[in-house]
Amino acid sequence: MNKTVEIGRGLYYTGIKDYDRRMFDALVSLPEGTSYNSYLIKAEKPALIDTVNPGFEKNWLARISEAVDPQDIQYVVMNHSEPDHAGAIPYFLTFNKRARLVASEQGRRLALRFYGVEESRIIVVKDGDTISLGNRRLRFVSAPMLHWPETMFAYLEDASILFTCDFFGFHTAKGLFDSDFEDIESGAKRYYGEIMLPFSSMGKKAMDKIKNLKIDLICPSHGPVYRNPQRIMTLYNKWVEGRTEEKAVFIYVSMWKNIESMVDRITDKLLANRVKFSRYNFLYSDPSNICADLVDSRAIVFGAPTVLSSMHPLGIYAANLVKMLRPPAKYAVLLSSYGWAESASRHMQDILGKLPLEVIGSKIINGPASEEDLKEVDSLTEKLMLKLKE
Ligand SMILES: Cc1cc2nc3c(=O)[nH]c(=O)nc-3n(C[C@H](O)[C@H](O)[C@H](O)COP(=O)(O)O)c2cc1C
Ligand SMILES: [Fe+2]
Ligand SMILES: [Fe+2]
Repeated sequence: MNKTVEIGRGLYYTGIKDYDRRMFDALVSLPEGTSYNSYLIKAEKPALIDTVNPGFEKNWLARISEAVDPQDIQYVVMNHSEPDHAGAIPYFLTFNKRARLVASEQGRRLALRFYGVEESRIIVVKDGDTISLGNRRLRFVSAPMLHWPETMFAYLEDASILFTCDFFGFHTAKGLFDSDFEDIESGAKRYYGEIMLPFSSMGKKAMDKIKNLKIDLICPSHGPVYRNPQRIMTLYNKWVEGRTEEKAVFIYVSMWKNIESMVDRITDKLLANRVKFSRYNFLYSDPSNICADLVDSRAIVFGAPTVLSSMHPLGIYAANLVKMLRPPAKYAVLLSSYGWAESASRHMQDILGKLPLEVIGSKIINGPASEEDLKEVDSLTEKLMLKLKE
């Protein structure tokens, strides 16, 4: 895509596709790269919605220049202050000395701190405030903690276009519109898991707020633009409510395959009973996939051994990841193994106990599992299958 595309009446896609980026937040992989979506609204007073990741400023400016003289731009709306969207603000405000930055009150503080924006150039907007672009008007919808405190949405009234920043986004450099994708769910769910899952209650508030808004186009800041907004809104309505499926996610660490032998046993039984599950040996797993599965799994099977009087460090990492994401899972099965002095299970409880999970059973084995141990794992699995149906 070399030309700046008009994606709606007087609305231009001025984003950057970062095909080669492979990691985000030092945590999740980006198999398809990502995009930093920025939008230009042509009007008597042109406005930009969000900018791009540092390093792409010049390409971005060139893209804007194809549609408008960038010196004519009057407003830069900062829906979110994270550098992937706000990182080019200093560059633009230095280039165009008249343009003003539009942000929420929290956004103002972050713009001062992160980007050294002159205070006099910031316009602070609250929920419901509008800004006139001359012949068009932007309205702002406060949508905090999606996923930083300053986040907001912008709504272009005459065209019913909602700019939602990270909300509704997903990491891909492919395509432009949702119609370019056969499957939206897997990418959007990976993204939701990592970024929005801990803030599902705030997501629910945002969904309620926009429920009655006429929306013809959703323009998020990563991934495709939605010409069919229902496609992503239907998924989000389910996820923000924490509706789970009859499905378990196994996350475990095992050095000598002792815990793994119990995981194998559970695997076999669930397979035989056609119960859905995803299985992650944490050592070989991409956290992005775990994030995705935590979005709608009803139960978590967690396992990690004792090492040096502690839970294995990868187990600590995995348990903390699960805790931080605050998944909607209701049930947990805990597995552990030790050699001479059990310590892992207490650490596991300390971390995972912070979640509202009902531990339906735990199995701690000394060294390898005996046939008797595995029979107990079988009955735990029976319990798990019953709970999954609830
Ligand atoms: C490097 C290392 C350190 C260990 N430290 C402890 C320990 O401090 N206390 C203990 O009870 N067992 C300790 N163990 C024994 C393991 O907990 C035991 O082998 C367990 O069965 C491993 O389960 P897994 O094969 O599922 O990883 C240690 C094992 C290793 C390899
Ligand atoms: Fe963000
Ligand atoms: Fe982002």
